[in-house]
Amino acid sequence: MAFDFSYHSLTKVVFGRDSENKVGKLIKEFGGSRVLIHYGGKSAVSSGLIDRIKNILDSEGIYHTELGGVVPNPHLGLVREGTELCKKEGIDFILAVGGGSVIDSAKAIGYSLGEPDKDVWELFLHERAPKACFPIGTVLTISAAGSETSASCVITNEETKEKRSCNSDMARPKFAVMNPVLTMTLPDYQTQSGCADIMMHTMERYFTNGGNMEITDSIAEGLLKTVIKNAKILHTDPENYEARAEVMWAGSLSHNGLTGLGTNGGDFMSHKLEHEMGGMFDVTHGAGLAAIWGSWARYVYKNCLDRFVKYAVRVMEVVPEENDEKTALKGIEAMEQFYRKIGMPTNMRELGIEPTDEEIEIMAKSCIRACGKPSGSAMVLDEKDFIEIYKNAR
Ligand code: NZQ
Ligand code: ZN
Repeated sequence: MAFDFSYHSLTKVVFGRDSENKVGKLIKEFGGSRVLIHYGGKSAVSSGLIDRIKNILDSEGIYHTELGGVVPNPHLGLVREGTELCKKEGIDFILAVGGGSVIDSAKAIGYSLGEPDKDVWELFLHERAPKACFPIGTVLTISAAGSETSASCVITNEETKEKRSCNSDMARPKFAVMNPVLTMTLPDYQTQSGCADIMMHTMERYFTNGGNMEITDSIAEGLLKTVIKNAKILHTDPENYEARAEVMWAGSLSHNGLTGLGTNGGDFMSHKLEHEMGGMFDVTHGAGLAAIWGSWARYVYKNCLDRFVKYAVRVMEVVPEENDEKTALKGIEAMEQFYRKIGMPTNMRELGIEPTDEEIEIMAKSCIRACGKPSGSAMVLDEKDFIEIYKNAR
């Protein structure tokens, strides 16, 4: 049975080679005249992209100022700094040039400017709901988080080590400029972490005990198989434009809601579990997901057996075994083999972290606080389940 849904994908996508040249016109189209160019550590500067964008804005007569320094698992402190800078400069549009971390930092600045008298972190603690967000545009440099079209924003409070999300259509970017060539400078580990994250955004929506629609499943399965194929290509041929393009578009479609329509909203517990690992150990998000997924899957699969069997047969192309449980387990193993093939971890040790029992308890407590209540669709999980899943993933 399909659930009712509403679908409103608000982001204008401009896709293809040299698409960043259109950024000035796009900003004007969405009413921007004084722009903050927001970016990360160094990649967008060293590639010359930031200088090119500044020149484009100059040629369109658009005022701009800049703030770099966004780190992966972006920090609340820089969000506060960016907010003050934007107020001082009278900024009316934020242009994020980078990946999920830069885009999320831009979204949080947007929220902060939308309600300037309030503390933005309250949104991430779910103490209040957002009422306004300044407009954001994006020039994407890594295919991964899907933040360029998503409603989601994930920020880390570096003082408390809490990584928390806030979801609202208000924060969806006005436009996403997507040139696959810009992703060719990524190290393989980042490319593959991105592919793991992209797949997980659809897998989170696939492993449900809610309603499912055949059309949604077909889109999801096609997307997952496309990413599996092209992640392997990029592992050996990182400058393959076609593969970069397939993965880039899959990244947006995977997290703009399309692959979950007609379901009950999805599971998202691998993400919740990983966000705690990111908050405590600062791991790369997609790699963290790959490291926790197998443990989560083995813990819940019996409670969501038909979906795990479908995944095994249709996505991982497993030949069915004599019973469903064996088929489902073969599918999980095939997924882990794929992770190994593209250099992704399948447990925390391979990820490079070794949490103690005490650290696991802290993550589990924080995770249930972030969830608000026992959560999940493949299986409803609470704090003691989180502890088991973390321990089984060591
Ligand atoms: O800082 P620079 O020097 O740019 O380096 C970045 C960073 O180290 C580098 N990079 C990006 N583009 C590059 C490049 N290096 C070379 N060439 C390029 N073209 O890649 C590294 C990772 O960047 P980051 O933005 O952190 O990656 P990603 O897009 O994976 O974003 C991860 C963040 O997004 C959150 C994650 O939790 C994490 O904080 N997520 C956001 C979501 C959303 N808003 O919808 C959903 C996701 O589930 C996720 O939780
Ligand atoms: Zn993700």
